[in-house]
Amino acid sequence: MEQIFALFTIFLAFAFSGRCSDVFSRSDFPDGFLFGAGTSAYQWEGAAAEDGRKPSVWDTLCHSRNIGNGDIACDGYHKYKEDVKMMVDTGLDAFRFSISWSRIIPNVCFREFGNYVKFWTTINEANVFTIGGYNDGDTPPGRCSLPGKNCLLGNSSTETYTVGHNLLLAHASASRLYKEKYKDKQGGSIGFGLYLMGFTPSTSSKDDAIATQRAKDFYFGWFLGPLIYGDYPDTMKRTVGSRLPVFLEEESERVKGSSDFIGINQYFAASVTNIKFKPSLPRNPDFYSDMGAYVTYLGNFSVIEYAVAPWTMEAVLEYIKQSYNNPPVYILENGTPMTQQKDTHRVEYMHAYIGGVLKSIRNGSDTRGYFVWSFMDLFELIGRYDYGYGLYSVNFSDPRRKRSPRLSAHWYSDFLKGKTPFLDSQGIKELQSNFSPSS
Ligand SMILES: *[C@@H]1O[C@H](CO)[C@@H](O)[C@H](O)[C@H]1NC(C)=O
Ligand SMILES: *[C@@H]1O[C@H](CO)[C@@H](O)[C@H](O)[C@H]1NC(C)=O
Ligand SMILES: *[C@@H]1O[C@H](CO)[C@@H](O)[C@H](O)[C@H]1NC(C)=O
Repeated sequence: MEQIFALFTIFLAFAFSGRCSDVFSRSDFPDGFLFGAGTSAYQWEGAAAEDGRKPSVWDTLCHSRNIGNGDIACDGYHKYKEDVKMMVDTGLDAFRFSISWSRIIPNVCFREFGNYVKFWTTINEANVFTIGGYNDGDTPPGRCSLPGKNCLLGNSSTETYTVGHNLLLAHASASRLYKEKYKDKQGGSIGFGLYLMGFTPSTSSKDDAIATQRAKDFYFGWFLGPLIYGDYPDTMKRTVGSRLPVFLEEESERVKGSSDFIGINQYFAASVTNIKFKPSLPRNPDFYSDMGAYVTYLGNFSVIEYAVAPWTMEAVLEYIKQSYNNPPVYILENGTPMTQQKDTHRVEYMHAYIGGVLKSIRNGSDTRGYFVWSFMDLFELIGRYDYGYGLYSVNFSDPRRKRSPRLSAHWYSDFLKGKTPFLDSQGIKELQSNFSPSS
Protein backbone atom coordinates (compact mmCIF):
# COMPACT_ATOMS: atom_id res chain seq x y z
CA MET A 1 0.00 0.00 0.00
CA GLU A 2 1.08 3.47 -0.64
CA GLN A 3 1.95 5.61 2.32
CA ILE A 4 -0.30 8.31 1.05
CA PHE A 5 -2.34 8.71 4.12
CA ALA A 6 0.75 9.58 6.07
CA LEU A 7 0.59 12.75 4.04
CA PHE A 8 -2.49 13.93 5.79
CA THR A 9 -1.60 16.41 8.41
CA ILE A 10 -1.18 14.24 11.35
CA PHE A 11 -1.85 14.58 14.95
CA LEU A 12 -2.49 11.56 16.87
CA ALA A 13 -2.21 9.43 19.78
CA PHE A 14 -4.63 6.71 20.24
CA ALA A 15 -3.47 3.36 21.37
CA PHE A 16 -5.82 0.54 20.78
CA SER A 17 -5.89 -2.39 22.98
CA GLY A 18 -7.83 -5.01 21.21
CA ARG A 19 -6.21 -8.34 21.48
CA CYS A 20 -8.69 -10.71 20.12
CA SER A 21 -8.62 -14.03 21.84
CA ASP A 22 -11.45 -15.50 19.80
CA VAL A 23 -10.76 -19.02 18.70
CA PHE A 24 -11.48 -19.69 15.07
CA SER A 25 -10.02 -21.58 12.19
CA ARG A 26 -10.21 -21.49 8.47
CA SER A 27 -13.04 -24.03 8.43
CA ASP A 28 -15.25 -21.41 10.12
CA PHE A 29 -15.26 -19.42 6.86
CA PRO A 30 -17.86 -20.10 4.16
CA ASP A 31 -17.12 -22.56 1.35
CA GLY A 32 -15.31 -20.87 -1.48
CA PHE A 33 -13.91 -18.07 0.69
CA LEU A 34 -10.48 -17.20 -0.72
CA PHE A 35 -7.38 -16.54 1.34
CA GLY A 36 -4.39 -15.08 -0.41
CA ALA A 37 -1.70 -12.41 -0.43
CA GLY A 38 -0.80 -9.66 -2.84
CA THR A 39 1.82 -7.71 -4.77
CA SER A 40 1.57 -5.16 -7.58
CA ALA A 41 3.42 -4.92 -10.87
CA TYR A 42 5.62 -1.88 -10.34
CA GLN A 43 6.33 -2.79 -6.74
CA TRP A 44 7.38 -6.37 -7.43
CA GLU A 45 8.39 -7.00 -11.05
CA GLY A 46 11.44 -4.89 -11.82
CA ALA A 47 12.61 -5.54 -15.42
CA ALA A 48 11.42 -2.01 -16.09
CA ALA A 49 12.83 -1.79 -19.59
CA GLU A 50 12.64 -5.41 -20.70
CA ASP A 51 10.61 -7.08 -23.41
CA GLY A 52 9.26 -3.84 -24.77
CA ARG A 53 7.95 -2.35 -21.52
CA LYS A 54 7.79 1.44 -21.61
CA PRO A 55 7.76 3.90 -18.69
CA SER A 56 4.54 4.29 -16.72
CA VAL A 57 3.59 7.34 -14.67
CA TRP A 58 5.32 5.70 -11.69
CA ASP A 59 8.62 5.26 -13.58
CA THR A 60 8.47 8.88 -14.63
CA LEU A 61 7.64 10.30 -11.22
CA CYS A 62 10.16 8.14 -9.32
CA HIS A 63 12.99 9.06 -11.70
CA SER A 64 12.13 12.74 -11.74
CA ARG A 65 11.85 13.11 -7.96
CA ASN A 66 14.68 10.93 -6.69
CA ILE A 67 12.45 8.91 -4.38
CA GLY A 68 13.75 5.42 -5.16
CA ASN A 69 12.35 3.37 -8.00
CA GLY A 70 11.09 -0.01 -9.09
CA ASP A 71 13.67 -0.64 -11.83
CA ILE A 72 14.57 -3.94 -10.16
CA ALA A 73 12.24 -4.10 -7.12
CA CYS A 74 11.94 -7.79 -6.12
CA ASP A 75 12.94 -8.92 -9.61
CA GLY A 76 9.68 -10.86 -9.62
CA TYR A 77 9.63 -10.67 -13.42
CA HIS A 78 12.46 -13.19 -13.46
CA LYS A 79 11.82 -14.96 -10.18
CA TYR A 80 8.11 -15.64 -10.55
CA LYS A 81 8.45 -19.40 -10.70
CA GLU A 82 10.26 -19.47 -7.37
CA ASP A 83 7.65 -17.09 -5.94
CA VAL A 84 4.69 -19.09 -7.15
CA LYS A 85 6.23 -22.18 -5.56
CA MET A 86 6.48 -20.25 -2.27
CA MET A 87 2.81 -19.34 -2.57
CA VAL A 88 1.87 -22.96 -3.05
CA ASP A 89 4.03 -24.01 -0.11
CA THR A 90 2.46 -21.29 2.05
CA GLY A 91 -0.96 -22.64 1.16
CA LEU A 92 -2.49 -19.58 -0.51
CA ASP A 93 -5.74 -20.13 -2.43
CA ALA A 94 -5.15 -17.10 -4.60
CA PHE A 95 -2.54 -14.50 -5.53
CA ARG A 96 -3.52 -10.87 -6.06
CA PHE A 97 -1.20 -9.06 -8.44
CA SER A 98 -1.43 -6.45 -11.13
CA ILE A 99 -0.52 -6.21 -14.77
CA SER A 100 1.52 -3.24 -15.89
CA TRP A 101 -0.34 -1.30 -18.56
CA SER A 102 2.90 -0.15 -20.05
CA ARG A 103 3.91 -3.78 -20.66
CA ILE A 104 0.78 -4.80 -22.50
CA ILE A 105 -0.73 -1.81 -24.26
CA PRO A 106 -2.27 -2.04 -26.82
CA ASN A 107 -3.37 -5.63 -26.26
CA VAL A 108 -6.32 -6.13 -24.11
CA CYS A 109 -6.00 -8.82 -21.21
CA PHE A 110 -9.26 -10.74 -21.24
CA ARG A 111 -8.41 -12.59 -24.44
CA GLU A 112 -4.90 -13.57 -23.36
CA PHE A 113 -5.34 -14.35 -19.68
CA GLY A 114 -9.08 -14.74 -19.19
CA ASN A 115 -8.93 -18.52 -19.05
CA TYR A 116 -6.67 -18.28 -16.01
CA VAL A 117 -7.77 -15.13 -14.20
CA LYS A 118 -11.15 -15.42 -12.51
CA PHE A 119 -11.26 -12.07 -10.70
CA TRP A 120 -10.43 -8.84 -12.49
CA THR A 121 -10.17 -5.46 -10.76
CA THR A 122 -10.01 -2.66 -13.30
CA ILE A 123 -8.75 0.08 -10.99
CA ASN A 124 -6.96 -0.20 -7.65
CA GLU A 125 -7.52 2.41 -4.92
CA ALA A 126 -9.42 4.68 -7.30
CA ASN A 127 -9.91 7.30 -4.57
CA VAL A 128 -6.23 7.36 -3.62
CA PHE A 129 -5.19 7.57 -7.26
CA THR A 130 -7.42 10.59 -7.88
CA ILE A 131 -6.78 12.46 -4.63
CA GLY A 132 -3.04 11.74 -4.64
CA GLY A 133 -2.50 12.37 -8.33
CA TYR A 134 -4.81 15.33 -9.02
CA ASN A 135 -5.68 17.03 -5.71
CA ASP A 136 -2.45 16.69 -3.68
CA GLY A 137 -0.07 15.97 -6.55
CA ASP A 138 2.13 13.72 -4.42
CA THR A 139 1.61 10.64 -6.56
CA PRO A 140 1.62 10.20 -10.34
CA PRO A 141 0.91 12.04 -12.47
CA GLY A 142 1.70 14.75 -9.89
CA ARG A 143 -0.86 17.35 -10.93
CA CYS A 144 -2.41 19.90 -8.54
CA SER A 145 -2.91 23.60 -7.95
CA LEU A 146 -2.48 23.65 -4.18
CA PRO A 147 0.07 26.21 -3.09
CA GLY A 148 3.26 24.87 -1.54
CA LYS A 149 3.14 21.71 -3.62
CA ASN A 150 5.54 20.61 -6.24
CA CYS A 151 3.15 20.61 -9.21
CA LEU A 152 3.82 22.22 -12.57
CA LEU A 153 0.31 21.76 -13.89
CA GLY A 154 -3.11 20.83 -12.68
CA ASN A 155 -6.28 22.10 -11.08
CA SER A 156 -7.24 20.63 -7.72
CA SER A 157 -10.71 22.20 -7.90
CA THR A 158 -11.79 20.30 -10.95
CA GLU A 159 -9.43 17.57 -12.14
CA THR A 160 -9.88 15.25 -9.15
CA TYR A 161 -13.59 14.93 -9.94
CA THR A 162 -13.12 14.81 -13.70
CA VAL A 163 -10.64 11.98 -13.37
CA GLY A 164 -12.83 10.08 -10.89
CA HIS A 165 -15.69 10.37 -13.35
CA ASN A 166 -13.58 9.11 -16.24
CA LEU A 167 -12.32 6.17 -14.15
CA LEU A 168 -15.90 5.12 -13.54
CA LEU A 169 -16.79 5.41 -17.24
CA ALA A 170 -13.64 3.54 -18.26
CA HIS A 171 -14.37 0.82 -15.73
CA ALA A 172 -17.94 0.53 -16.99
CA SER A 173 -16.71 0.18 -20.58
CA ALA A 174 -14.19 -2.52 -19.66
CA SER A 175 -16.84 -4.30 -17.64
CA ARG A 176 -19.30 -4.18 -20.54
CA LEU A 177 -16.69 -5.54 -22.92
CA TYR A 178 -15.97 -8.41 -20.53
CA LYS A 179 -19.64 -9.21 -20.04
CA GLU A 180 -20.47 -9.07 -23.75
CA LYS A 181 -17.51 -11.00 -25.09
CA TYR A 182 -15.80 -13.06 -22.42
CA LYS A 183 -17.71 -13.67 -19.21
CA ASP A 184 -19.85 -16.55 -20.46
CA LYS A 185 -16.86 -18.43 -21.80
CA GLN A 186 -14.40 -17.57 -19.05
CA GLY A 187 -16.69 -17.56 -16.04
CA GLY A 188 -14.90 -14.78 -14.15
CA SER A 189 -16.06 -11.58 -12.52
CA ILE A 190 -14.97 -7.98 -12.65
CA GLY A 191 -14.68 -5.46 -9.81
CA PHE A 192 -13.44 -2.04 -8.77
CA GLY A 193 -11.00 -1.24 -5.93
CA LEU A 194 -11.13 1.41 -3.20
CA TYR A 195 -8.99 2.40 -0.25
CA LEU A 196 -11.18 2.69 2.85
CA MET A 197 -10.51 3.79 6.40
CA GLY A 198 -12.59 3.11 9.48
CA PHE A 199 -13.94 6.64 10.02
CA THR A 200 -14.89 7.64 13.51
CA PRO A 201 -15.94 11.09 14.79
CA SER A 202 -13.25 12.79 16.85
CA THR A 203 -15.75 13.97 19.47
CA SER A 204 -19.34 13.15 20.37
CA SER A 205 -20.56 16.44 18.89
CA LYS A 206 -23.30 16.41 16.30
CA ASP A 207 -21.10 18.36 13.87
CA ASP A 208 -18.40 15.70 13.94
CA ALA A 209 -20.98 12.96 13.41
CA ILE A 210 -22.28 14.78 10.33
CA ALA A 211 -18.73 15.41 9.12
CA THR A 212 -18.02 11.69 9.48
CA GLN A 213 -20.93 10.89 7.21
CA ARG A 214 -19.61 13.47 4.73
CA ALA A 215 -16.19 11.83 4.84
CA LYS A 216 -17.82 8.47 4.08
CA ASP A 217 -19.68 10.04 1.18
CA PHE A 218 -16.50 11.58 -0.21
CA TYR A 219 -14.26 8.54 0.22
CA PHE A 220 -16.71 5.64 -0.22
CA GLY A 221 -19.82 7.09 -1.84
CA TRP A 222 -17.99 9.02 -4.57
CA PHE A 223 -17.42 5.66 -6.30
CA LEU A 224 -19.83 3.28 -4.58
CA GLY A 225 -22.80 5.60 -5.21
CA PRO A 226 -22.39 5.48 -9.01
CA LEU A 227 -21.43 1.77 -9.03
CA ILE A 228 -24.37 0.65 -6.90
CA TYR A 229 -27.05 3.33 -7.45
CA GLY A 230 -25.94 5.07 -10.66
CA ASP A 231 -25.16 8.49 -9.18
CA TYR A 232 -22.99 10.50 -6.79
CA PRO A 233 -24.14 11.04 -3.19
CA ASP A 234 -26.33 14.10 -2.66
CA THR A 235 -23.83 15.68 -0.27
CA MET A 236 -21.20 15.68 -3.00
CA LYS A 237 -23.54 17.04 -5.63
CA ARG A 238 -24.53 19.83 -3.27
CA THR A 239 -21.06 20.91 -2.18
CA VAL A 240 -19.06 20.32 -5.35
CA GLY A 241 -21.79 21.72 -7.56
CA SER A 242 -20.93 22.30 -11.21
CA ARG A 243 -17.37 21.00 -10.75
CA LEU A 244 -18.77 17.49 -10.28
CA PRO A 245 -19.42 15.95 -13.69
CA VAL A 246 -22.93 14.73 -14.38
CA PHE A 247 -23.73 11.26 -15.71
CA LEU A 248 -25.90 11.16 -18.81
CA GLU A 249 -28.75 8.76 -18.30
CA GLU A 250 -27.17 6.04 -20.43
CA GLU A 251 -23.84 6.48 -18.62
CA SER A 252 -25.53 6.15 -15.27
CA GLU A 253 -27.18 2.92 -16.45
CA ARG A 254 -23.86 1.59 -17.69
CA VAL A 255 -21.94 2.42 -14.50
CA LYS A 256 -24.65 1.11 -12.20
CA GLY A 257 -24.11 -2.59 -11.59
CA SER A 258 -20.86 -2.65 -13.56
CA SER A 259 -18.95 -4.19 -10.63
CA ASP A 260 -19.57 -7.80 -9.72
CA PHE A 261 -17.68 -7.11 -6.52
CA ILE A 262 -16.08 -4.28 -4.59
CA GLY A 263 -12.39 -4.64 -3.80
CA ILE A 264 -11.31 -2.88 -0.63
CA ASN A 265 -7.94 -2.10 0.84
CA GLN A 266 -8.28 -1.47 4.56
CA TYR A 267 -5.60 -0.92 7.17
CA PHE A 268 -6.54 1.48 9.92
CA ALA A 269 -8.89 3.97 11.53
CA ALA A 270 -9.16 7.70 11.00
CA SER A 271 -10.86 10.28 13.13
CA VAL A 272 -12.98 12.97 11.52
CA THR A 273 -13.40 16.54 12.73
CA ASN A 274 -15.87 18.95 11.26
CA ILE A 275 -14.07 21.94 9.81
CA LYS A 276 -14.89 24.81 7.54
CA PHE A 277 -11.75 25.01 5.47
CA LYS A 278 -10.72 28.14 3.80
CA PRO A 279 -9.63 26.80 0.45
CA SER A 280 -5.86 27.16 0.06
CA LEU A 281 -6.41 29.48 -2.87
CA PRO A 282 -9.32 31.90 -2.63
CA ARG A 283 -12.22 30.73 -4.77
CA ASN A 284 -10.39 27.47 -5.57
CA PRO A 285 -11.95 24.83 -3.38
CA ASP A 286 -10.33 21.38 -3.41
CA PHE A 287 -11.31 17.90 -2.29
CA TYR A 288 -10.67 18.58 1.41
CA SER A 289 -12.41 21.94 1.59
CA ASP A 290 -15.34 20.44 -0.32
CA MET A 291 -15.50 17.57 2.16
CA GLY A 292 -15.39 20.02 5.06
CA ALA A 293 -13.75 17.54 7.35
CA TYR A 294 -10.34 17.00 8.81
CA VAL A 295 -9.27 13.37 8.54
CA THR A 296 -6.56 12.19 10.89
CA TYR A 297 -4.90 8.83 10.84
CA LEU A 298 -5.31 7.16 14.21
CA GLY A 299 -2.20 5.49 15.38
CA ASN A 300 0.97 6.01 17.20
CA PHE A 301 3.47 7.50 14.81
CA SER A 302 6.46 6.74 16.95
CA VAL A 303 6.05 3.15 15.87
CA ILE A 304 5.58 2.26 12.28
CA GLU A 305 3.26 -0.69 12.87
CA TYR A 306 -0.46 -0.15 12.57
CA ALA A 307 -2.63 -0.58 15.64
CA VAL A 308 -4.50 -3.83 16.05
CA ALA A 309 -7.99 -2.39 15.58
CA PRO A 310 -10.16 -4.97 13.83
CA TRP A 311 -13.27 -2.90 14.56
CA THR A 312 -12.13 -0.62 11.70
CA MET A 313 -12.53 -3.49 9.24
CA GLU A 314 -15.81 -4.56 10.81
CA ALA A 315 -17.16 -1.00 10.63
CA VAL A 316 -16.23 -0.66 6.95
CA LEU A 317 -17.80 -4.00 6.03
CA GLU A 318 -20.93 -3.25 8.03
CA TYR A 319 -21.28 0.19 6.43
CA ILE A 320 -20.95 -1.23 2.91
CA LYS A 321 -23.46 -3.93 3.78
CA GLN A 322 -26.04 -1.48 5.12
CA SER A 323 -25.55 1.53 2.85
CA TYR A 324 -24.75 -0.13 -0.46
CA ASN A 325 -27.03 -3.16 -0.67
CA ASN A 326 -24.51 -5.70 0.60
CA PRO A 327 -22.45 -6.23 -2.57
CA PRO A 328 -19.88 -9.04 -2.74
CA VAL A 329 -16.62 -7.74 -1.25
CA TYR A 330 -13.05 -8.92 -1.54
CA ILE A 331 -10.52 -7.47 0.88
CA LEU A 332 -7.66 -7.00 -1.54
CA GLU A 333 -5.20 -5.55 0.95
CA ASN A 334 -4.77 -5.69 4.70
CA GLY A 335 -1.58 -5.79 6.70
CA THR A 336 0.94 -3.76 8.62
CA PRO A 337 4.53 -2.66 8.05
CA MET A 338 7.11 -4.35 10.23
CA THR A 339 10.68 -5.19 9.29
CA GLN A 340 11.64 -7.74 11.92
CA GLN A 341 11.74 -11.42 10.98
CA LYS A 342 10.03 -12.32 14.23
CA ASP A 343 7.01 -10.17 13.42
CA THR A 344 4.71 -11.10 16.29
CA HIS A 345 2.77 -7.86 15.95
CA ARG A 346 1.86 -8.68 12.35
CA VAL A 347 0.63 -12.11 13.45
CA GLU A 348 -1.58 -10.51 16.10
CA TYR A 349 -2.80 -7.93 13.59
CA MET A 350 -3.68 -10.52 10.93
CA HIS A 351 -5.28 -12.83 13.45
CA ALA A 352 -7.45 -10.03 14.81
CA TYR A 353 -8.48 -8.67 11.37
CA ILE A 354 -9.28 -12.11 9.96
CA GLY A 355 -11.37 -12.65 13.12
CA GLY A 356 -13.08 -9.30 12.42
CA VAL A 357 -13.87 -10.40 8.86
CA LEU A 358 -15.39 -13.60 10.21
CA LYS A 359 -17.56 -11.61 12.64
CA SER A 360 -18.76 -9.40 9.77
CA ILE A 361 -19.61 -12.43 7.65
CA ARG A 362 -21.54 -13.92 10.53
CA ASN A 363 -23.48 -10.67 10.74
CA GLY A 364 -24.46 -10.89 7.08
CA SER A 365 -21.65 -9.19 5.14
CA ASP A 366 -21.06 -10.83 1.74
CA THR A 367 -17.27 -10.74 2.08
CA ARG A 368 -15.73 -13.48 -0.03
CA GLY A 369 -11.99 -13.17 0.26
CA TYR A 370 -9.05 -11.78 2.24
CA PHE A 371 -5.62 -10.93 0.86
CA VAL A 372 -2.65 -10.00 2.99
CA TRP A 373 -0.61 -7.03 1.85
CA SER A 374 1.91 -8.09 0.96
CA PHE A 375 3.14 -11.54 0.02
CA MET A 376 6.72 -10.31 0.20
CA ASP A 377 8.46 -6.99 0.89
CA LEU A 378 8.05 -4.66 -2.07
CA PHE A 379 9.09 -1.31 -3.43
CA GLU A 380 6.52 0.66 -1.41
CA LEU A 381 6.31 3.52 -3.92
CA ILE A 382 6.68 6.83 -2.11
CA GLY A 383 7.52 4.73 0.98
CA ARG A 384 10.57 3.31 -0.85
CA TYR A 385 11.99 0.02 0.44
CA ASP A 386 11.75 0.70 4.15
CA TYR A 387 8.42 -0.70 5.19
CA GLY A 388 8.54 -4.47 5.18
CA TYR A 389 4.91 -5.38 4.67
CA GLY A 390 5.84 -8.89 3.53
CA LEU A 391 5.06 -12.30 4.93
CA TYR A 392 8.45 -12.95 3.34
CA SER A 393 11.28 -10.47 3.72
CA VAL A 394 13.40 -9.62 0.67
CA ASN A 395 17.07 -8.72 0.90
CA PHE A 396 17.24 -5.76 -1.48
CA SER A 397 21.06 -5.52 -1.14
CA ASP A 398 21.40 -9.02 -2.44
CA PRO A 399 21.55 -9.16 -6.25
CA ARG A 400 19.54 -12.38 -6.00
CA ARG A 401 16.86 -10.60 -3.91
CA LYS A 402 16.74 -13.51 -1.49
CA ARG A 403 13.33 -14.11 0.14
CA SER A 404 13.01 -15.43 3.73
CA PRO A 405 9.84 -16.40 5.58
CA ARG A 406 8.90 -14.32 8.60
CA LEU A 407 7.08 -15.66 11.62
CA SER A 408 3.86 -14.40 9.99
CA ALA A 409 4.45 -16.59 6.91
CA HIS A 410 4.60 -19.62 9.19
CA TRP A 411 1.51 -18.52 11.10
CA TYR A 412 -0.53 -17.79 7.97
CA SER A 413 0.55 -21.07 6.43
CA ASP A 414 -0.49 -22.97 9.58
CA PHE A 415 -3.79 -21.14 9.57
CA LEU A 416 -4.41 -21.88 5.89
CA LYS A 417 -3.58 -25.52 6.45
CA GLY A 418 -6.30 -25.76 9.05
CA LYS A 419 -4.54 -25.37 12.38
CA THR A 420 -6.36 -23.21 14.89
CA PRO A 421 -4.27 -20.22 15.76
CA PHE A 422 -5.25 -19.55 19.33
CA LEU A 423 -3.30 -16.47 20.26
CA ASP A 424 -3.30 -16.15 23.98
CA SER A 425 0.03 -15.17 25.50
CA GLN A 426 1.01 -18.83 25.83
CA GLY A 427 0.19 -19.39 22.15
CA ILE A 428 2.37 -16.45 21.15
CA LYS A 429 5.29 -17.70 23.23
CA GLU A 430 5.04 -21.11 21.62
CA LEU A 431 4.87 -19.62 18.15
CA GLN A 432 7.97 -17.52 18.83
CA SER A 433 9.97 -20.30 20.39
CA ASN A 434 9.29 -22.61 17.44
CA PHE A 435 10.50 -19.97 15.00
CA SER A 436 14.07 -19.66 13.93
CA PRO A 437 14.65 -16.95 11.32
CA SER A 438 16.65 -19.28 9.10
CA SER A 439 13.87 -21.83 8.83
C1 LIG B 1 -9.56 25.54 -12.04
O1 LIG B 1 -10.66 25.45 -12.93
C2 LIG B 1 -11.74 26.30 -12.58
C3 LIG B 1 -12.88 26.01 -13.55
O2 LIG B 1 -12.42 26.07 -14.85
C4 LIG B 1 -11.30 27.76 -12.62
O3 LIG B 1 -12.35 28.61 -12.20
C5 LIG B 1 -10.12 27.93 -11.64
O4 LIG B 1 -9.61 29.23 -11.70
C6 LIG B 1 -9.02 26.94 -11.99
N1 LIG B 1 -7.99 27.03 -10.96
C7 LIG B 1 -6.71 27.13 -11.24
C8 LIG B 1 -5.77 27.20 -10.06
O5 LIG B 1 -6.30 27.13 -12.38
C1 LIG C 1 -25.45 -6.66 12.45
O1 LIG C 1 -26.39 -6.48 11.41
C2 LIG C 1 -27.56 -5.80 11.80
C3 LIG C 1 -28.50 -5.83 10.61
O2 LIG C 1 -27.90 -5.23 9.48
C4 LIG C 1 -27.23 -4.40 12.27
O3 LIG C 1 -28.39 -3.72 12.67
C5 LIG C 1 -26.25 -4.48 13.41
O4 LIG C 1 -25.83 -3.18 13.80
C6 LIG C 1 -25.03 -5.30 12.99
N1 LIG C 1 -24.14 -5.51 14.14
C7 LIG C 1 -22.88 -5.08 14.15
C8 LIG C 1 -22.09 -5.39 15.38
O5 LIG C 1 -22.38 -4.50 13.23
C1 LIG D 1 21.80 -9.24 2.27
O1 LIG D 1 22.62 -9.51 1.17
C2 LIG D 1 23.91 -8.94 1.29
C3 LIG D 1 24.62 -9.14 -0.05
O2 LIG D 1 24.59 -10.50 -0.43
C4 LIG D 1 24.62 -9.58 2.48
O3 LIG D 1 25.89 -8.99 2.62
C5 LIG D 1 23.79 -9.33 3.73
O4 LIG D 1 24.38 -10.02 4.84
C6 LIG D 1 22.37 -9.82 3.54
N1 LIG D 1 21.55 -9.42 4.67
C7 LIG D 1 20.87 -10.29 5.42
C8 LIG D 1 20.08 -9.70 6.54
O5 LIG D 1 20.87 -11.48 5.20
